[in-house]
Amino acid sequence: MLKVKNLYAGYGKFKVLFDINIEVPEKEITVVVGPNGAGKTTLLNSIVGLATIHSGDIIYEGKSIAGVPSHKIARTGISLVPQMGNVFAELSVFENLRMAGYTLERDELKDRLDEVLEMFPVLKEFLHRKAGTLSGGERRMLAIAMGLIRNPKLMLLDEVTMDLAPIIAKKVIQKVVDLRDELGITILLVEQMAKRALEIGDSAYLLVSGTIKFSGKAEELLQHPELAKLYLGVR
Ligand SMILES: Nc1ncnc2c1ncn2[C@@H]1O[C@H](COP(=O)(O)OP(=O)(O)OP(=O)(O)O)[C@@H](O)[C@H]1O
Ligand SMILES: [Mg+2]
Repeated sequence: MLKVKNLYAGYGKFKVLFDINIEVPEKEITVVVGPNGAGKTTLLNSIVGLATIHSGDIIYEGKSIAGVPSHKIARTGISLVPQMGNVFAELSVFENLRMAGYTLERDELKDRLDEVLEMFPVLKEFLHRKAGTLSGGERRMLAIAMGLIRNPKLMLLDEVTMDLAPIIAKKVIQKVVDLRDELGITILLVEQMAKRALEIGDSAYLLVSGTIKFSGKAEELLQHPELAKLYLGVR
């Protein structure tokens, strides 16, 4: 569904990614793990038109989207849930969702809202509360729900479990599995909490200092004798 080919990218002249090759097959969870500053967010930014592509290509459903501006990418069925979440604390849960679905017609928005709230029933209870009063886990659920409202085919999730207590992180990860299994959404999941992500992932990539150090099955990386210990904190 998505192919990143020999990608070199960064910000302006600043180079972050070097010769990246990644394939994201339809209806699978592809995981990218790696330490701080490795370039994980930059990879997602490159896909949605928020970074500078120096060379290489990004193919989505057979067409090149390299260098296409982000507002156009948003209409192709790719949706990014950013690392810091894109939740507006002063707005209610409902207003946040409506804002995320601003390109939708009124009737469509209503249908989408119903579907998204069915997927995230916890948000239904808090629909008219300010998003700033939600717990960390609830806020992360809202950020994912906002990404879901435009009915994406491909979701890019940037560290959606960051700073969450383990039990809450587990719930968020389970939602990611549900997105694949119940809605058939293709997922590119970027995580530092490598173990949990690799346990649910299909294929995986290890990104270190802007280069791919491993590509293969998620469980292979999890069981890799050196890499898992060196980079993933897995013993
Ligand atoms: N907007 C930007 N302009 C210039 N440089 C940037 C920008 N965003 C990130 N960088 C730099 O790009 C490099 C890679 O950062 P990136 O955010 O992609 O890493 P990451 O793997 O997502 O790290 P983390 O796990 O901490 O989120 C870093 O050296 C960072 O300082
Ligand atoms: Mg990041």
